[in-house]
Amino acid sequence: MAVNELHETARAIVADHKGILAADESTGTIKKRFDSIDVESTEENRRFYRQLLFTAPGIEDSIGGVILYDETIRQSADDGTSLAELLASKGVIPGIKVDTGAHDHAGYPGEKVTEGLDGLRARLEEYRSLGARFAKWRAVITIGDGIPTDGNIHANAHALARYAALCQEAGIVPIVEPEVLMDADNTLDECWEVTTRTLHETFDALYEDALDLQGLLLKPNMVVSGKGCAQQATSEEIAHATVNCFQGVVPAAVPGIVFLSGGQSEVQATENLNAINQIGGPWVLSYSYGRALQASALEAWAGDPANAEAAQEVFTHRARMNSLAVAGEWTAEMEQTVTV
Ligand code: 13P
Repeated sequence: MAVNELHETARAIVADHKGILAADESTGTIKKRFDSIDVESTEENRRFYRQLLFTAPGIEDSIGGVILYDETIRQSADDGTSLAELLASKGVIPGIKVDTGAHDHAGYPGEKVTEGLDGLRARLEEYRSLGARFAKWRAVITIGDGIPTDGNIHANAHALARYAALCQEAGIVPIVEPEVLMDADNTLDECWEVTTRTLHETFDALYEDALDLQGLLLKPNMVVSGKGCAQQATSEEIAHATVNCFQGVVPAAVPGIVFLSGGQSEVQATENLNAINQIGGPWVLSYSYGRALQASALEAWAGDPANAEAAQEVFTHRARMNSLAVAGEWTAEMEQTVTV
């Protein structure tokens, strides 16, 4: 059988217990992150910080792909190599965020729908020429009084499927990201119910549009208690609810499920991923973390080039901890004892 490039790429990103670094913060979001460490969000500071992450020694041992933002895929390292090329030269696959954000969904108060389909075919072609081999589109589902509605879930699923089809046509692996937010006061069971509905509708839409399930990755939330819920589930409860939910609605043909961290602390995100992998399933269960891979590294850097090496060590430590969690071999003690 001929080698299928989409299948190969999807599998390579999550091979050998590796995961994804989500470094695709929009200009607005990265400004918030930089504000938290009192660093001005200039184009050069953003380039410097991302170069620091991408050149961290050993990044390729735990990171199989990096999601870039439009600005970043056009930037170069100090020596003139494009950042995408730099990653590819280490065997880390460059990816690109292609949605243009979640906006208020007209007619659906309190709910968001993701935009960015117009002109996407041409943008994907350009991104591929710039080195991108996978892409990301994030849909946001909000839990609240009477929401999410079926209409909103449907609209987001439909957009995800149209985006994914355009990606596969362009030879780019789509990461399908329907994120149920964890900010509300809902219980674990409510998150299970909403995540199940959302994923069911998403896979219906992917099936309807004849997507190749082996040539995509799913990026979902874990099934967790909302931040405002008095009764917070344990890692074991989260793991059971999450795997149980996916077993009902995610086809085994999908090669990898890469979780977002969604506001969990760094260690929580690792501990939950480890518990999930102690149960396991027919898919690789890995990570595509933004905040849970970068929070401590960002603090260690604090905008001072003299801290770059220390920040890189903090980052690769976090990545290594998550890679161990994919193997189901992480323990809390390793946070102290494993050196990078
Ligand atoms: P977090 O892990 O910070 O939630 O970010 C992942 C991501 O890419 C969300 O789209």
